[in-house]
Amino acid sequence: MSHAYQASENRYEKMLYRRAGTSGLLFPAISLGFWHNFGENDNPDNMRAMMRTAFDLGITQFDLANNYGPQYGRAEKNAGKFLAEDFKPYRDELVISSKAGYDMWPGPYGNWGSRKYLIASLNQSLSRLGLDYVDIFYHHRPDPNTPLTETLDALKSIVDAGKAIYAGISNYNAEQTAAAVKYARKIHLPLIVNQSRYSIFDRKIERMGLDKQAAKDGIGIIAFSPLAQGLLSDRYLNGIPADSRIAHDGRYLKREDLTANKLAAARRLQEMAKERGQSLAQMALAWDLRLSQVASVIIGASSPAQIKENADALGHLDFSQTELAQIDEIIAEI
Ligand SMILES: NC(=O)c1ccc[n+]([C@@H]2O[C@H](COP(=O)([O-])OP(=O)(O)OC[C@H]3O[C@@H](n4cnc5c(N)ncnc54)[C@H](OP(=O)(O)O)[C@@H]3O)[C@@H](O)[C@H]2O)c1
Repeated sequence: MSHAYQASENRYEKMLYRRAGTSGLLFPAISLGFWHNFGENDNPDNMRAMMRTAFDLGITQFDLANNYGPQYGRAEKNAGKFLAEDFKPYRDELVISSKAGYDMWPGPYGNWGSRKYLIASLNQSLSRLGLDYVDIFYHHRPDPNTPLTETLDALKSIVDAGKAIYAGISNYNAEQTAAAVKYARKIHLPLIVNQSRYSIFDRKIERMGLDKQAAKDGIGIIAFSPLAQGLLSDRYLNGIPADSRIAHDGRYLKREDLTANKLAAARRLQEMAKERGQSLAQMALAWDLRLSQVASVIIGASSPAQIKENADALGHLDFSQTELAQIDEIIAEI
């Protein structure tokens, strides 16, 4: 067991906090996600160090899901251990998020969006995390076969039971989001965030109009994979490092995702970032945050150094029209 943790006294000095829509909740502009690097084969000392580093930088949101691992549930279990050992005094300074919606356990009740699945899954998550409640509980993806009303009624029961403070949806398209927000308002469900993939390489949010819709509906966007899983960083500019996500994981980010066009675009973007006095990763995060509807970007990280570098993105958030046009031009061909 490493030394007792005392959070940095300066932890709130540099982080920016952004409101999710018209809700009362402020998110750190940068959050830490637990999808990768908190699984059964990952290094516990590194996990602990990343959580401490993040919190010391004012990163108050840890984003989890039932099935983050491998194995399913392992990221919550690992997070729970360090929450208990290091973060007990800081529970009320943290926003802990979890989700259910993807494959979790065998049989008809461990997937999608039924009331049965969501309630059972959150109970499991709470026990792995060692918490009485999460701050945000998400339906992780839309379920074409369960009535949306059942899914949202289940989230409402969860909130009413005190097991989640707010609710969220993730991977819902514009139409599904509109329907969800409408029903949530009707049943007084505090549905405050829509979690979607968003990066310079993936502008689906804008194409679908989710950004405009979020502004209209008063909900916040939580942007995931803002670095396109590492493609929008210096990670792959000179080959595929042995400790990178492509080399050591390869499940979600594959060698073939690193196309010649993306690599060429990343190289040009890095030149731009240099001129701004930033790393490519920092510029990619700043670019996501140029949309006021984006309450937070959730980064993944494999080391405390990456978290520190990414938090420094906040030093230069603004873009000139020329820079924005240049980025549009660079990614036109990817
Ligand atoms: N709701 C959903 O359906 C959903 C889906 C996906 C993700 N998420 C959430 O979003 C979080 C982030 O997703 P993500 O991990 O794909 O995000 P990401 O930030 O796009 O990618 C993270 C990876 O980029 C590399 N990286 C990060 N900072 C770097 C830096 N400064 N320099 C060089 N490389 C850097 C690291 O790769 P290496 O390992 O190679 O070092 C890191 O693991 C997840 O943990 C999860 O919480 C949600």
